[in-house]
Amino acid sequence: MRNFFATACLIGSLFTQLGYAAPQDQVKEKQAKVDKFVKDESTVAIQGVLANIGPDGSKVSGAAAGIVVASPSKVDPDYFFTWTRDAALVFKALVDRFIAGDQSLKAKIDDYVSAQAYLQTVSNPSGRPETGGLGEPKFNVDRTAFTGSWGRPQRDGPALRATALIVYAQWLVANGDTARAANTVWPVISKDLFYVSRNWNQTGFDLWEEINGSSFFTLAASHRALVEGNALAGKLGKPCDQCTAQAPEVLCFLQTFWTGSYIDSNINTNDGRTGKDANSILTSIHVFDPTAGCTDSTFQPCSPRALANHKAVTDSFRFYAINAGIPQGVAVAVGRYSEDVYYGGHPWYLATLAAAEQLYDALYQWNRRGSITVDAVSLAFFRDLVPNVATGTYASNSATYKSLTTAVKNYADGYMAVVQKYTPANGALAEQFSKTDGKPLSAADLTWSYAAFLTAAARRNGVVPASWGEPTANRAPGVCKGGIPPCTVSVTFNEVAGTSFGQNVFIVGSISQLASWNPGSAVALASDRYTNENPLWYVTLQLPASTSFEYKYIKKTADGSVTWESDPNRRYTVPDCGSGAATQNDVWR
Ligand code: NOJ
Ligand code: NOJ
Repeated sequence: MRNFFATACLIGSLFTQLGYAAPQDQVKEKQAKVDKFVKDESTVAIQGVLANIGPDGSKVSGAAAGIVVASPSKVDPDYFFTWTRDAALVFKALVDRFIAGDQSLKAKIDDYVSAQAYLQTVSNPSGRPETGGLGEPKFNVDRTAFTGSWGRPQRDGPALRATALIVYAQWLVANGDTARAANTVWPVISKDLFYVSRNWNQTGFDLWEEINGSSFFTLAASHRALVEGNALAGKLGKPCDQCTAQAPEVLCFLQTFWTGSYIDSNINTNDGRTGKDANSILTSIHVFDPTAGCTDSTFQPCSPRALANHKAVTDSFRFYAINAGIPQGVAVAVGRYSEDVYYGGHPWYLATLAAAEQLYDALYQWNRRGSITVDAVSLAFFRDLVPNVATGTYASNSATYKSLTTAVKNYADGYMAVVQKYTPANGALAEQFSKTDGKPLSAADLTWSYAAFLTAAARRNGVVPASWGEPTANRAPGVCKGGIPPCTVSVTFNEVAGTSFGQNVFIVGSISQLASWNPGSAVALASDRYTNENPLWYVTLQLPASTSFEYKYIKKTADGSVTWESDPNRRYTVPDCGSGAATQNDVWR
């Protein structure tokens, strides 16, 4: 079959989608079915999302205002929590929908802003608000901390939340409510950006909450947030000091996930996996910028890298029984990653929908550019669809462009058709569906599944989000410098201590900056403000933020004899990052 079509280049593309001779009207018929599904399911999906948001979501009583519950399911699995990631992705979809015209969502979005402002203040097992607490993956639905053991921190949450809020704040600015953007939304965004700019280079748990390492999705989300955060800061006249410095560094690091033929979704970890993971497809749709070219560095949906990766990842799920016999180039059910065992390791609705969405995004980008380039990296992806295609650039008026875009559209619709096939009659979207019989599995009514449907459907309808500024932020430095060192705070120690000629005062303590209790290398204080009335010794040190330690002052004489202050040891906690300089006043004892 394939070989036959290889010679029938122009019409081949219309047929290869089904892998066998498919008359054009069969393709049309399939498209009409998908059209109908998309229309009907859109209603179910928006209702499904709203039913899971407090305070009035019909399936989540007890959830506070603006809180997105992951799923109403309270047992097997218990998803009756709010995840920062799920909530942000859901609200990103809702904000885009609001901007596209659904006015009814404004109050919900404002609730979300308030709920997140509050959650940022809640101390939790990942830390206090200023010391890593923003990396906490999930909270109870009444906005209290979840204290059970979990894969934490997860650093994608702050970045994704910043993006959802930045898109909203930009809308506020464009629609005459700069005050609200600046006074209500920006404070939340800026805390997230602060977290991202200081922590992006630290390892953490991936979006599937399993692997502690560097996750492609998290890093790409961080890059996007810093870029658009910086643009918003500029508009509002607010500082975003590290955004400009850190964004190119994140982009630099992101390049190392590219293996040469696909994206290895988790690095800096020994996970024993191939790295082919829906993580990377979700990334492509999250960083989609409708004004971008097919940029490889930012893994745009139409980029050769992202297309090659789409093939690598989707092909890795062909072993599912429900995918049996489906040839390459024809849509399959997609899971998280092939080694997955969670609930038995099945396809996920949101992963399958993301595979469709990336292709709709790519179609938008080619259309806007007016051409498609097939290069050595993307060739295998395109050959699955149009077997005879060669590398080259094809302008939109060419027959090859037509056959490629027709085939990609049909391929994308194929993923929607897979979702359609395994969606029960009432349209309910759970988390997973069985790899053997396609029946829904795991959490019922997963909010993220519904949101994933809404965004895929919007892209299919040609509705795209605003640019996040990719065209001005897609050049990665040739050499990566890495992240900024952990935050320090300037602390001045004043010690009033009368000394005799030849005696000097030093500070020594339990941290390395205070010589780890070694009087021989204790830190000297200055005496230039010393007077008889006020025998002041002082020193200003840069100390790691939020660190607690013990210390004492000592007097040393030229002959090396040491006099210690009396017990007990003094204790000090360095203020949190960004708190400004501090002073500690002591008197010799
Ligand atoms: C719960 C997480 O939500 C899920 O992603 C993970 O696979 C399982 N725990 C197993 O670690
Ligand atoms: C498990 C998924 O792996 C994770 O990404 C998600 O945040 C939670 N379930 C809640 O939906």
